Amino acid sequence: MKIVTVIGARPQIIKAAALSRAIKNSFANKIEEIIVHTGQHYDENMSQVFFDELGIPKPDYNLSVGSASHGVQTARMIEGIEEILLKEKPDYLILYGDTNSTLAGAVAASKIHVPIAHIEAGLRSFNKSMPEEINRIMCDHASALLFSPTKTGYSNLISEGFNPDNRKPFTNDNPGIFHCGDVMFDNSLYFREMALNKGNVLDNNELEAGKFILGTVHRDNNTDQPQRLNAIFRSILKISEENDIEFVLPLHPRTSKLLSKNLDQELYKAIGDNDKIKLIPPVSFLDMIALESNCQMVITDSGGVQKESFFFNKPCIILRSETEWKEIVEVGAAIIADADKEKILSAYSHFLHSRKLEFPSIFGDGKAAEFICGVMLENAGE
Ligand code: UD1
Ligand code: UDP
Repeated sequence: MKIVTVIGARPQIIKAAALSRAIKNSFANKIEEIIVHTGQHYDENMSQVFFDELGIPKPDYNLSVGSASHGVQTARMIEGIEEILLKEKPDYLILYGDTNSTLAGAVAASKIHVPIAHIEAGLRSFNKSMPEEINRIMCDHASALLFSPTKTGYSNLISEGFNPDNRKPFTNDNPGIFHCGDVMFDNSLYFREMALNKGNVLDNNELEAGKFILGTVHRDNNTDQPQRLNAIFRSILKISEENDIEFVLPLHPRTSKLLSKNLDQELYKAIGDNDKIKLIPPVSFLDMIALESNCQMVITDSGGVQKESFFFNKPCIILRSETEWKEIVEVGAAIIADADKEKILSAYSHFLHSRKLEFPSIFGDGKAAEFICGVMLENAGE
């Protein structure tokens, strides 16, 4: 079986490591993988670092689309992906998550009848102002195989009319839907020990285990709306000033570029002058796992970081008005605080005083990637 995998944004590169590893370890004679990097993310610390660190094969193609408006960026990707699909004629196109690279792959493949396998299918925020919500809905409805990481994702698909009977052959008119666990959980189990052994990110940033909060902010509705960005950073400043706690914030380039423009000047200066708030460039995945495993708490608007916080048994304050990973909120391990200062401060205080949080098994058994490969092999060419 031949598959073409499209990746482009940081979290997709990391997710792809799980499938490439499963192919290498268990299906090397059965699956040939061709990797296409759209070039959506391109800085060394947003892309190459993950290939070097996580053992992902070098991309066979790089479309180098770079940054642009949604339409321009997606259109450039569609053109490039179509050309590659026509040449490579794969059994499946593999798409991850909900970025513009995902949408481009879905449009290109469905028009020329290449079956799509969507990994991370069924997740919904029910907020169509998010570009990701549109991308994931469109991709799900163009796919032949849909792999959902959670029960909620699987139920969302059924609510949208997907048939759980799974009668073969699977096509985008008769898709197969599977609840299979999360490839990122596979990765967290696999890389955790490596990350803890590598261990110099704490020293390098003068952080002490258990005595810092890890934060990330990159959603466009937080970075691009000054009112929201100010509320988030005012909360961070207040928590750091009132508690003996440090913050480390590996900043996405989108956020770094907008901080000085969108934060009130006095706040921007106060953050810069506060040596307990460490704004650092994006870190590698192993460093990120080390930070997640050793922090006191996580504060984030990232989908991936919310979940990893749960994988490493840390409470999480979610800087969004909703989440696709609603299980982690339902069990009390995460709180939706939006970009609302009062809610953020109250979530911090709640977690600080919580005695025992529960982190039940929600994301599978660490073998989602093997399951996905097995299903594709069973159905290729039918
Ligand atoms: C994209 C995804 C988002 C995902 C995030 C992961 C879409 C619509 N959004 O958002 O779902 O959570 O990736 O990180 O696909 N930039 C750089 N260097 C880079 C990459 C980006 O400087 O290597 C800057 C550019 O100024 C760019 C901005 O970041 O305009 C935004 O990048 P883009 O890929 O368009 O969206 P993300 O915010 O990264
Ligand atoms: N990540 C990383 N370095 C960083 C920030 C995040 O390796 O400096 C990883 C993080 O551990 C997770 C993924 O990137 O696996 C999440 O990506 P991001 O937050 O950019 O996107 P989202 O998950 O929200 O789509």
